[in-house]
Amino acid sequence: MLLKVAILGGDGIGPEVTGEAVRVLKTVAESFGHQLSLTHKDVGGAALRSANDPLPKDTLETCQSSGAVLLGAVGSPDFDHVPGNLRPEKGLLRLRQALGVFANLRPAFCFAPLEDASPLRAEVVRGTDILFVRELLGGIYFGEPRSTQGSAGARVATDTMRYGEPEIKRVAHVAFQLARTRRRKVTSVDKANVLDCSRLWREVVSRTAQHYPDVQLNHSYVDSAATALVSHPTNFDVVLTENMFGDILSDQAGGVVGSLGMLPSASVGGPVALYEPVHGSAPDIAGKGIANPLGAILSIGMMLRHSFQLDREAACVEAAVTDTLVAGHRTRDLAKPDQPSIGTTQMGQKVAEAVKARARAADPMTVAR
Ligand code: IPM
Ligand code: MG
Repeated sequence: MLLKVAILGGDGIGPEVTGEAVRVLKTVAESFGHQLSLTHKDVGGAALRSANDPLPKDTLETCQSSGAVLLGAVGSPDFDHVPGNLRPEKGLLRLRQALGVFANLRPAFCFAPLEDASPLRAEVVRGTDILFVRELLGGIYFGEPRSTQGSAGARVATDTMRYGEPEIKRVAHVAFQLARTRRRKVTSVDKANVLDCSRLWREVVSRTAQHYPDVQLNHSYVDSAATALVSHPTNFDVVLTENMFGDILSDQAGGVVGSLGMLPSASVGGPVALYEPVHGSAPDIAGKGIANPLGAILSIGMMLRHSFQLDREAACVEAAVTDTLVAGHRTRDLAKPDQPSIGTTQMGQKVAEAVKARARAADPMTVAR
């Protein structure tokens, strides 16, 4: 099979972690007999520097004509004081919109060897396996009007949270369908005690649930969900929520399972899907070679499964990550204070070796997580 992938490294640690994800993708292609066509393009701050646009036309066209897109991260303190439309983040928001990827899937899984890496007690996090389904093209991220007006000392800033019924319905269907492939439980998270958007959300989600009588639905306010996520993370299966709540809760889930660096994501719903680790550009550790590439590598796993229907290859990547962790390899974010750690490149190499070993073995699908 020919796998045509656009690679947008972006800012901060983005290029470092995507470099290792590409190493693993190349190893998968070699081991399973696929051909790769990779095109690297700029996005975010990198694109602002090279083209004065956080999403140049050429980058978007490359993404639209690829089978899938891998993005590292966007965001740089260099652009903290520029207008909103010239911020690196705007490049990512425009890309999501142009690709029509309305459902952002963010699995938060506690790998058994990492139980001790969580700041929570091992018995609390053991078995955590949550799939966040975050609405990605609506809510306060995109609502109009938005502005900052008035003179210094008396300015007023406005953002608008907005949701339409069709937008809620389509992402709810995604969550219910995915719940059928898992433990058949959806927790819809909102703030229906305060927000009109959330009351509409709750109503539309409840109505959509009627098509899925085999899936259990419950509703939770976002503040209470935030507590439950740290006190009883194993109570959650699929968490369905709007754009900003999903942004916040998925980062929190990163802390629960040991490190935000572990979380992959897939943004789906349009003709071309977008894959990114959940972590950001982490400017404080950029260029040091210490970032955890596993979120980006696991995003390759999601890409193989969702965009290319290569389940066996996807399972091989996941198994290789498990093998690497079982063997005791840790980047700095995962290591305990007295434990040795390895760098970004070494971690990528370890996973690539494990992919080769798994692919040679009779059944690379058997995962001992
Ligand atoms: C994420 C990020 C983005 C978001 C930023 C970089 C625009 O935090 O993917 O979670 O808020 O969606
Ligand atoms: Mg975020």
